[in-house]
Amino acid sequence: MNKLSMMQTKLLRITFSYVLTFLFSIGLVSIVGCSSDDSSWRPIIDEPSGDDDDDDNGELNFTYNPQSSLKDLAAYPVGMIVSAAKLSSSSDENESFKSILTDDYNSITAENDMKMANMFTAADTYDWSDGDEIVAYAKENNMRVHGHALLWHQSIPGWLNNFDGSDEEFETLIENYIKEAVSHFAQETFEDGTPVVASWDVVNEAFDGAQMRNSLFFQRMGEDYVAKCFQWAREVDSDVKLFYNDYNIAGEGTKRNSVINMVNNFASEGIPIDGVGLQMHVNHDWPTTNEINQAITAIANTGLLVHLSELDVKVNFNDDLEELTLERAQEQEKRYQEVAEAYANVPEEQQFGITIWGMRDRDSWLYEGGLEWPLLYNNNFEYKVAHRGFAEGLE
Ligand code: XIL
Repeated sequence: MNKLSMMQTKLLRITFSYVLTFLFSIGLVSIVGCSSDDSSWRPIIDEPSGDDDDDDNGELNFTYNPQSSLKDLAAYPVGMIVSAAKLSSSSDENESFKSILTDDYNSITAENDMKMANMFTAADTYDWSDGDEIVAYAKENNMRVHGHALLWHQSIPGWLNNFDGSDEEFETLIENYIKEAVSHFAQETFEDGTPVVASWDVVNEAFDGAQMRNSLFFQRMGEDYVAKCFQWAREVDSDVKLFYNDYNIAGEGTKRNSVINMVNNFASEGIPIDGVGLQMHVNHDWPTTNEINQAITAIANTGLLVHLSELDVKVNFNDDLEELTLERAQEQEKRYQEVAEAYANVPEEQQFGITIWGMRDRDSWLYEGGLEWPLLYNNNFEYKVAHRGFAEGLE
């Protein structure tokens, strides 16, 4: 954008903000759930102060003050990703992170610490230390841990990638890894005996479109490797919930059908599986609301648990924004609400929960140096209107 059009946009935005503030003040516009005597609510448009002329680097604060925490609103667990490093740090930033974490969430997933590349350090050698820290934190704070992910083609340790033993030896390494990891993390329980690690993504992203992905696991162990992994996990733990997890289950109908066929075949062949994780890395305008509803219903129709396991909402997929606009922030708000509402149609006993893939926009794996705003909190840990949309969807 040139300077003139930037100024015009800015002027328009400020005018729009004044008009809305005026409408708020005379009561023509109200926020759902906002009572006029509740001073914790403020208008949704919160321009940064002392910054009238300059470019604001995408830091517009379309924020609001929530009335209840997400976990109190939802009938099922609400999850956030964590790392051992963040949980053990007491920097101001990480203290803010933990304060929101314990307020809003009751389930955690390790963003990377419990993946194979981090835990499977050499043949028959494992490092559970980061996972153990996460589990200890969860136990202390009464949160469930969802284990992510035993097998993922993007998290294979270098030594295993280069392993030059036979296919049989490779398979034994994987079998031992799965059994050791699942048994290890089954040990920690809450006082009532419930395991802290409630579940595992046993295999992540085995499909590439509608076909099985030609991963190292597929090449070395054959096309029934997914089934084998679920069986090994179940052999050592009869309770832990076993999930198959993948992306674009909502956006790609043919991929969705392949996943559904696989889990239905598991059921008819007696292969143990408890649930399906739909990652839900979606955009503000993709997939359509209908597709999201259809996909969640189709997965629920398998009868298995349904986890929306990695929810985030890209608003700048087409790179048409240089900063987050009010309009796009509100489209994102709507999208978060739609996803939560679609999930409400899953029968209660199949609702495993919804996990959000990151806290502040800048923490997101999609951050792109500041040109993407996919999450529920801005870079100052303030609640974006996306959070309000999600909260409304949960109610
Ligand atoms: C991502 C993490 O967020 C990044 O920090 C890491 O560099 C790569 O993995 N699907 C998954 C997640 O199943 O494990 C991925 O997480 C995001 C895509």
